[in-house]
Amino acid sequence: MPKVLVTAPIPEEGLGLLRRGSDLILLDNDEPKGHAELTPHLREVQGLLCLLSDTIDRRVMDAGPDLRVIANYAVGFDNVDMAEATRRRIAVTNTPDVLTEATADLAWALLLAAARRVTEGERFMRAGRFRGWGPLLLLGGAVHGKSLGVVGAGRIGAAVARRAVGFRMRVLYTDVQERPGLERQVGAMRVPLDTLLSEADFVSLHVPLTEETKHLIGTRELATMKPTAFLINTSRGAVVDEQALIAALQSGEIRGAGLDVYEMEPEVPDALLQLENVVLLPHVGSATVEARGAMAKMAAENVLAGTEGRRPPNILNPEIYDAERE
Ligand code: DGY
Repeated sequence: MPKVLVTAPIPEEGLGLLRRGSDLILLDNDEPKGHAELTPHLREVQGLLCLLSDTIDRRVMDAGPDLRVIANYAVGFDNVDMAEATRRRIAVTNTPDVLTEATADLAWALLLAAARRVTEGERFMRAGRFRGWGPLLLLGGAVHGKSLGVVGAGRIGAAVARRAVGFRMRVLYTDVQERPGLERQVGAMRVPLDTLLSEADFVSLHVPLTEETKHLIGTRELATMKPTAFLINTSRGAVVDEQALIAALQSGEIRGAGLDVYEMEPEVPDALLQLENVVLLPHVGSATVEARGAMAKMAAENVLAGTEGRRPPNILNPEIYDAERE
C-alpha cells in the first residue's frame, strides 16, 4: 500500500478512505508545519495531504524523495511551491467547488456583521452595558439597496455576488476575464478596480494570493474607497496591506472591515484586535461540517489517485503529465 502523510486530523470522510487505501501516517495537531515538523515523517512517503497553513517548499520536497502527489486541503494553494513541485513532476491538487457556498456565506456573515455592528453589540451585551432601547444605540450602515464590489469573480466571488440579488444591490466586479453568466444572472458590471473601489459600499475580496495580488489593497486603494465603505476579506491576508488597513480603520478613512484572513497567520496585530470597527474571524470560511467533510473526501481521493499513478481529479499542474510523454 502507498504511504500517505496527513499533516493534521481531518474529517472522517477522508480519513476512512485513507485508512482503507494507504499506509497512513496521521499527525495529531493542526499547528502550521514546515520542513522542520514534516521532515521526520516524509521518508518513503508517496502522498502528502497538507493544510493551507503548512509551508510546502523545496526543503519539504527534498525530505520526501518518493513524493508523487501533494493534496492541499483547501482551494487556495499559495502555500505550495508550485514551480518546484512541477519541476519534480509531483502532482499538486486542491479542493475546489465543495467549499464555494460555505465561503460565500461567511463573506456575507462578515459583511452583515461589520455593517450592523453585530460583534460590537454582542460584546456590549456580555459586558452588561445594555440599559434599554436607544435611538442612537449602535447605528450601523444599511446593506439593502447598496453597491457590492466583488474583486475576483471566480467561483466564490460569483457566489457572493449571487447573494446580493436578495438585498437588491448593484453589483460591480473586477476580474481577469469577463463573466457574461454573472452579468446576466445578477446584472453585475465589470469595471476597473479604481471604479469599483470608489463606488462600492462593500468591497469583498476573492482573488488568489499571487505575486500580482499581494497587497492589491494598500494605502492608495483604501484612500480610493468611500469613507462609509466596508472591506471584507475571506481570500488571503496578504492580498491586503494589513498595516495600511489598520491605519485606514483607525483614521476613519473607511468605516469598517470584516476579516477572516491575516497577513501573518496565525498572528494578528494587536492594533487590529483593539479596533471596534472590524469583525475578526479565525480563517473559518469553509468551516461547515458539510464543506469540510467534502473537502476531506476530495483531498483523500486526490492523494490516493496520485499515489496509484492515476491523474488526480483536481490536478493543478497537469503539465507534469505532458512532460512525461516528451
Ligand atoms: C481555502 O480553502 O483556501 C480557504 O481559505 C479555506 O477556508
